[in-house]
This record gives sequence, C-alpha cells and structure tokens, in this order.
Amino acid sequence: MEDRSLVTIADHSKEKIMYLIRMAQEFEMHTNRKILDGKIVATLFFEPSTRTRLSFETAANRLGARVIGFTDPKVTSSTKGETLKDTIMMVSNYADLIVMRHYLEGAARYASEVSPIPIINAGDGANQHPSQTMLDLYSMYKTQGTLDNLNIYLVGDLKYGRTVHSLLMAMRHFNPTFHFIAPEELAMPEVYKLYCNKHNIRFVEHTDFNEDTIAGADILYMTRVQRERFTDLMEYEKVKDRYLLKLHMLRKARPNMKILHPLPRVNEIEYAIDDDPHAYYFEQAHNGLFTRQALICDALGITLEDIKADKTIIN
Ligand code: CP
Repeated sequence: MEDRSLVTIADHSKEKIMYLIRMAQEFEMHTNRKILDGKIVATLFFEPSTRTRLSFETAANRLGARVIGFTDPKVTSSTKGETLKDTIMMVSNYADLIVMRHYLEGAARYASEVSPIPIINAGDGANQHPSQTMLDLYSMYKTQGTLDNLNIYLVGDLKYGRTVHSLLMAMRHFNPTFHFIAPEELAMPEVYKLYCNKHNIRFVEHTDFNEDTIAGADILYMTRVQRERFTDLMEYEKVKDRYLLKLHMLRKARPNMKILHPLPRVNEIEYAIDDDPHAYYFEQAHNGLFTRQALICDALGITLEDIKADKTIIN
C-alpha cells in the first residue's frame, strides 16, 4: 500500500508543495463540502495545542468527516502503560486517518512505520511541524505572489522551534536567503546549517534585532521561546524576553513585508502591531484551515482533480 503519511515536509518535492497549495486554494474558495462523508479522522494530541488541533478538526468537520480523539493523554490507557504502537494499532481500527502531536522527536516517523492508516505529524518534539509549514508556505505565497527568491528572517528560538526547522527544509526548492536572528543560546542548530550548505541555501546569522537588521525582510517570522523544551528554567528566564518586535521597528520595513508567527504569542510581538498592515499572523492561522483540508484529502488519496470535480459543495 502507498504510504500517504506526512512525517516531514522534506519528503515533498517542489511540485508536490505547489500541488497542495492549489488544493488549498480550492478549499479557500469552497470550504464547506461533503467530500469526506463517511470518513473518520482521529486527532491524538499528546501535547497541548489550540490552533493545530482545532484547525484540523474544523477542516475535517467542514468536509463532512467525523472526528474522534483526545486532547490529554492522561485520559487514555497510555497512563496504564499502553505503548504508542498499541495505541496507534487500536485507533487504526476505528479511523481512516490519524493526526498526531507527540512530545518525542521521531514519534511521528515511528507511528507511520507501524500504522496501517496514514499519519499526519502535527508536531513531534523540537523536530518537525510539516502541516504548519504548509500553512506558512500558503501564507507566503498569498502575500508575496511567489515562493521564489524571498528574504526570510527567522527570529527567536531557532534551537527548539520545530516550525522554523520544517520551513527551512521546505524552502530548499525556492532559492531563499535566510537570516537567522537568535541569542547564542537559541541559535539555529548545526544540523540545519549543514542542511543549508548541502542544499545551497544562503543564510546569515545575527544576534542584533533592530529596525536596520530586519529592513531587508520579505517575511519576518517571529517565534516563541519554547519554555516546555528547557530542562533548566533559569536558562529560559534568561532568554525569554530577548526579542520583542515593537511598532517603531517597522519604520524601515519593505512595503510587501509580512510578519508571520506560528503562535501562540507570549512576548514576541507588541500588541500595537496587530493593526499594522505588516501583521499577518492571524490570517496565517486562518490559512491553516484550507491547507489542512488539503493535507487531509491528500492523505486519504483524494486528488486535486477529485476536488475540482466535487459536486458536494455546500457554499
Ligand atoms: N502553531 C501551533 O502549532 O499552535 P498550537 O500549538 O496552538 O497548535
């Protein structure tokens, strides 16, 4: 059987990414359909989530699927010692697709290897967050009109931030120039810098964060310091408020520049920026609905042609 799981965005070609963007465009035009009537999507969240879980569940519901799952592993038999493999095997008896977030890096890969049904990785530890990357790419494409040749500034926790790791890998197809802005303690890990070198991705590293540093950005991608990944909270306290984007820092910004943030925001973007035309993070989260509809359909073997021919549109 063809493996339709999505574990890492690195598995997707440029053509596949653009194909998924076209699918998401179809869903943005017509979001409510019955194309997944009779399907069951399971959302297994071993870690907290607001956007990822709710947008996946909304995506499934708006396409006529039904949703089962849990938001807290403490209410499941994993507390009795049931293994991840057995949990996946059980859920695959009930559902057609599993969307899983897990605190362990590699958990999604492992689940995809043991599961008879497709797995979508909704975030595995500090490793990857491929569905977030698809909505980030869709947001960039919508706002810039292209994914090619963009100047992308990644700011904040580049060590533990799985969204920036996934985004960097996806962009290898599109000739980007990255600027990594982070305190030394949270710098982009060597493994991702080696990845850039291997794929001829240009990058510049900064520790300064001011209006001059970010003046050349097409995309300013802010990130939260990932408190839950620190073993020593004193270390977290030292870096948590280091990079706060303030309204006055946008004075030299390019007109096309958009501020993205995977959210949740803690103290990275001043609230006064929310009404600025550069702010795009709430629309970005909304785009998650359409891109996750595309990812669910793709995992279930529904093609762009099927969606274009779909006669179940409700609005
Ligand atoms: N962006 C993101 O993953 O948000 P949640 O943790 O709320 O799902």
